[in-house]
Amino acid sequence: MEENRENDEPEEPSHDSEDGSSMPQEEELQEQGGGRVEEDGSGSPRVSKSAKKKLMKLQRYEAKKAHRKAIAKQNKQEHMERKRQEWADKLAALPEDERSSLVQAKLDTRKERMAERHQEREHTREKLRNAMQRGQNIVVDLEFCELMNPNEINSLVQQIMYCYAANRKSASPAHLWLTGCKGEIMSRMQKVPGFPNWLVEKEERSYIEALHERKQDLVYLTADSEDVLQELEASKIYVVGGLVDRNRWKGITMQKAQEQGIQTAKLPIADHLSMTSSQVLTVNQVFEILITFLEVKDWRKSLLQVIPQRKRPEIDSNDLHLTNERKKMSSGNENGEVSPCDSNVGSNCNEKREEVTVET
Ligand SMILES: C[S@@+](CC[C@H](N)C(=O)[O-])C[C@H]1O[C@@H](n2cnc3c(N)ncnc32)[C@H](O)[C@@H]1O
Repeated sequence: MEENRENDEPEEPSHDSEDGSSMPQEEELQEQGGGRVEEDGSGSPRVSKSAKKKLMKLQRYEAKKAHRKAIAKQNKQEHMERKRQEWADKLAALPEDERSSLVQAKLDTRKERMAERHQEREHTREKLRNAMQRGQNIVVDLEFCELMNPNEINSLVQQIMYCYAANRKSASPAHLWLTGCKGEIMSRMQKVPGFPNWLVEKEERSYIEALHERKQDLVYLTADSEDVLQELEASKIYVVGGLVDRNRWKGITMQKAQEQGIQTAKLPIADHLSMTSSQVLTVNQVFEILITFLEVKDWRKSLLQVIPQRKRPEIDSNDLHLTNERKKMSSGNENGEVSPCDSNVGSNCNEKREEVTVET
């Protein structure tokens, strides 16, 4: 996978909570009521029992994680060493002429594979370049960074990675914009391997500034809108709020759009599915629903493909194949790698996932 990172492939750390962290971080402990650090009157901090408990839990978790990582690394090294040894033994058992033709065949296969991958990557990049000329405009509005804690910003970065991965994989990719991409969020994005090569609009300015000539075409997508999205119009520019907030900032994008005097719309979730929980989805889920719709032109199919099954209890047998299809995709490729390109993984960004890489 090393060679891929030189290109535009982000790598994804694993996480299992909505804000991207598996466990509460120290700064979070203080934000949460249960983990208060108080003064004891003499000026020295008195840590509450529950804060101590949480801290110990965090430490145990970190230790386990480090241990698991070390074991995985060791297993990988052992596996590589075994393979290397098997190959050396195989060669050693052969007469000289057979040995060199076997080595040559292996080199040729590797070259062919690399050429194929290069071609695939070029094809994908060509598709994305075309999308930047003619694709449906979709903006991720990155102007909410001050409202998020570091973990939430991390999670947002991951969700953007999933958006990009899904876009690369799509047969009808969108023209993806990252607006307000500066400061903290930009420096985080710049740490994503391959980000400099991403074929997206990296725009420092806000969408309202960068796209001011097309203000009448802007449609802010927000679960709080009264208008339901019926179609995706090529002439419109759909804006998704780049926010991970567990809906702490309820209504914020609706308010922003109203203040700016731009149109709003919500996804037609209620028309097609019954949900067990809120209809507020993550950034990448919304993005994936949109690009799936561009491909299949069917809201129900698009919603079913992206919204995790646990959020929608009622499912009839006609729909099961869609869900199963996504399960298959997320089980990984023939190398056992799971990619955020596999949209199930991407869309269930809030759920526990494996360490994944994005194929070019
Ligand atoms: C995690 S939500 C942020 C929720 C935030 N409190 C708000 O007011 O938008 C991320 C973004 O996804 C989009 N979104 C989420 N659910 C949606 C829905 N049901 N319909 C339309 N857009 C949605 C919105 O653009 C939203 O800002």
